[in-house]
Amino acid sequence: MQTIMRIADEASIALGAQYIKMGEVVAFPTETVYGLGANALNESAVRKIFEAKGRPADNPLIVHIAHERELEALVTNVQPCARRLMEAYWPGPMTLVMDRKPVVSDIVTAGLHTVGIRLPQSEIARALIEKSGCPIAAPSANRSGLPSPTRADRVLEDMDGRIPLIIDGGACQVGLESSVIDVTGECPIILRPGGITPEMVERVCGSVQIDEHVMKPLGEGDGVRSPGMKYKHYAPKAELVIYEGENGAVREAIIERFDRAEQGGQRVCIFSCEEQRYGDRRVYAWGSERHPELAAGALFEALRAMDDQGVQLILAQALDLQGIGLAVMNRMGRAAAFHIEHV
Ligand code: TXA
Ligand code: MG
Repeated sequence: MQTIMRIADEASIALGAQYIKMGEVVAFPTETVYGLGANALNESAVRKIFEAKGRPADNPLIVHIAHERELEALVTNVQPCARRLMEAYWPGPMTLVMDRKPVVSDIVTAGLHTVGIRLPQSEIARALIEKSGCPIAAPSANRSGLPSPTRADRVLEDMDGRIPLIIDGGACQVGLESSVIDVTGECPIILRPGGITPEMVERVCGSVQIDEHVMKPLGEGDGVRSPGMKYKHYAPKAELVIYEGENGAVREAIIERFDRAEQGGQRVCIFSCEEQRYGDRRVYAWGSERHPELAAGALFEALRAMDDQGVQLILAQALDLQGIGLAVMNRMGRAAAFHIEHV
């Protein structure tokens, strides 16, 4: 199959909608990361997503809608806290896990009785859903296990020859996938942190829980609330080590490790805020530490870019777990297989 890439405009969105109606898979931008979409109500179309990504069949997909009114056809038992979250943060980078109706197939939900629903902020995404006339099931548009793509050229790297069309909407604004929040009970539970932070959830719901596996690896025999937690994720080819502690100590430990590894012949790169100084060592600076949202926006592209440069070891400075920092550390932690040095 030949893959074409088109700048997002009325014509390319109309073409995308045509493909979706025909049961094909189309990559499209959202404000979080690029998605790999198909008609959520067409089982054979949804199967093609799993094939294109190489995704395990037991990892469910998020269903995207363009208007809140499309929700009722898909889910049941909508809780008051879910309503409040929708009102506050939809459209936006937030997926709500709710009890599904039978119309949502087992292929989409991987057999779970719940389904994750998201109303994205991206106008391109919403126009595509609207024109397709159906909810769109879409995981991130990377090959399974690789960092999520935040630019169309990265989608092409992973999906060339596997899907007919990529709609290019430029760089994604948030840069990390949506917050996934289980709202089937009274208290919302964050399964995957993202642009809608625990603080923001607590503000509108009065309470919030964070699943314990957000910042730690799965132990043997641990049950999971979200199948995505089981899988190796976001992994660059390079080894990634995170350094956590007071700024000065982190800087010293990173420099010591950097010099030792380079002397041993390894190509090393530091991933850090711009305030930390590392002399003439190779650094990928994401921006000012006063703006952790810039780290969120930069992380996945940085991991791919460092791989392109043949970097073998990445030494990253930990972020504070407040606000969006939790989402950055969740992805970085998983990319590092939770190899975190406390200094
Ligand atoms: O920002 C995003 O969420 C992007 C864009 C394209 O919308 N999509 C995305 O999808 O990141 P994906 O498939 O890469 O990640 C979905 C995550 C997985 O970890 C999955 O296990 C979890 O959400 N998930 C989906 N449905 C679920 C459910 N019913 N219960 C628990 N977890 C669920
Ligand atoms: Mg993904």
